Amino acid sequence: MIDDPYRDTDLVGLYDLDNPGGADHEFFRGLADQIDARSIIDLGCGTGLLTRSLARPGRTVIGIDPSRTMVDYACRQPGSESVTWIRGDASALAPTGTADLVLCTGNAIMHVSPQALPSTLTSIVRALRTAGIVSFESRNPACRAWEHWTPAATYSERVTSAGQLREWLDVTDVDGGRVVFDAHNVFPDGEDRIYTSILFFRTAEEFQRDLDLAGFSDITWTGDWHGAPIDDASPFYVFRARRA
Ligand SMILES: C[S@@+](CC[C@H](N)C(=O)[O-])C[C@H]1O[C@@H](n2cnc3c(N)ncnc32)[C@H](O)[C@@H]1O
Repeated sequence: MIDDPYRDTDLVGLYDLDNPGGADHEFFRGLADQIDARSIIDLGCGTGLLTRSLARPGRTVIGIDPSRTMVDYACRQPGSESVTWIRGDASALAPTGTADLVLCTGNAIMHVSPQALPSTLTSIVRALRTAGIVSFESRNPACRAWEHWTPAATYSERVTSAGQLREWLDVTDVDGGRVVFDAHNVFPDGEDRIYTSILFFRTAEEFQRDLDLAGFSDITWTGDWHGAPIDDASPFYVFRARRA
């Protein structure tokens, strides 16, 4: 276990500025509308920017995330009262078998270890109704994004509400698809706040196998938000599968 890499309130306060949502959020909102989802779970919801935008009359939306800082932030945002917020991972999902759609966005699934992925997918299956849909994106290991996460390539400085921020990434270990990196953050007090993340890069075939074993069918994936086929240059893939 590592400490929550999203536990810094100053940095969580900047998250939505850095990740305002675009084609990804449009894709997930469009999917919810397309299947007329009345019950949606956003697993790894983070600050809940997308989660809150999914809420509407006649639809129940649950946002769930293991980071206390993230969930506390999400709860404080305008419109948060339209969402039920849960602090936890997939094991905290009730096995109701009623959800129409489970989303896992912003590469949140990459935080789930190979040991935990089967039980995570099983929890999702148990939360979904028959023929309910799971959808998520994950970085394509063929692109080897971590090779660009060097201090020199990622260093930046900017003015934030918490003062001038210097920030950079530094990969400390790569073992197969398991990538460990430190995010460095220096505010005006000069302290280097270092948050370590472990991400798991998986091939589409690995996801397909685990989804199949968990009880999903009609497993498909694309190389962007508009349905393009995947190739080695696709930075991520977007999965969709149906509870069998
Ligand atoms: C990059 S953020 C994405 C947040 C949000 N979904 C978005 O699209 O902006 C990744 C999130 O995954 C959450 N996370 C970490 N481990 C998780 C797990 N085992 N299950 C679900 N979410 C997890 C983190 O707490 C974090 O909020």
